[in-house]
Amino acid sequence: MSRGLCPGTFDPVTSGHLDIIERAAALFDEVLVGVALNPEKGGGPLFSVDERVGFIREAARHLSNVAVKPFDTLLVDFAEKEGATVIIKGLRAVTDFEREFQMAALNWRLDSKIETLFIMAIPEYMYLSSSAVKEIAQHGGSVRGLVPDNVAVALERATSAR
Ligand code: PNS
Repeated sequence: MSRGLCPGTFDPVTSGHLDIIERAAALFDEVLVGVALNPEKGGGPLFSVDERVGFIREAARHLSNVAVKPFDTLLVDFAEKEGATVIIKGLRAVTDFEREFQMAALNWRLDSKIETLFIMAIPEYMYLSSSAVKEIAQHGGSVRGLVPDNVAVALERATSAR
């Protein structure tokens, strides 16, 4: 049985992430989405890890072979513990490449049994990111279509309240 791991901070999950998760779910028997706590990233996430996990569970509930779990360890250790042999990352425009290339190389150095597989973002989502979506929402812009509907509602609520 093949098990792939889609890791990320997902603060919050976007339609681009969900597209990669759906495409990974078609390639693997099982896909585990790993949500990193990443408290230090960019001054701390907007959403708690439980909120981020919950958003993905709800948005991916039509995918019967997808599970979602938080993690706070090295990614390769999480993959080993969960029996995943392939790390799946979405790749957008060239700006992602250097960081992703570095992470893939370091993960290979840490555990060469775990492969990294890149799935190209579709053109519609090539320029989409969690930080851009948060910025749009913080300035009162519409994020409908850029994120799953449950996330759009939560973003509107979070940015008007915080
Ligand atoms: O959504 P992101 O921020 O691009 O995801 C980055 C993530 C969570 C995949 C990365 O920060 C990660 O793997 N964190 C776990 C700690 C780790 O293993 N770091 C070494 C990777 S080189």
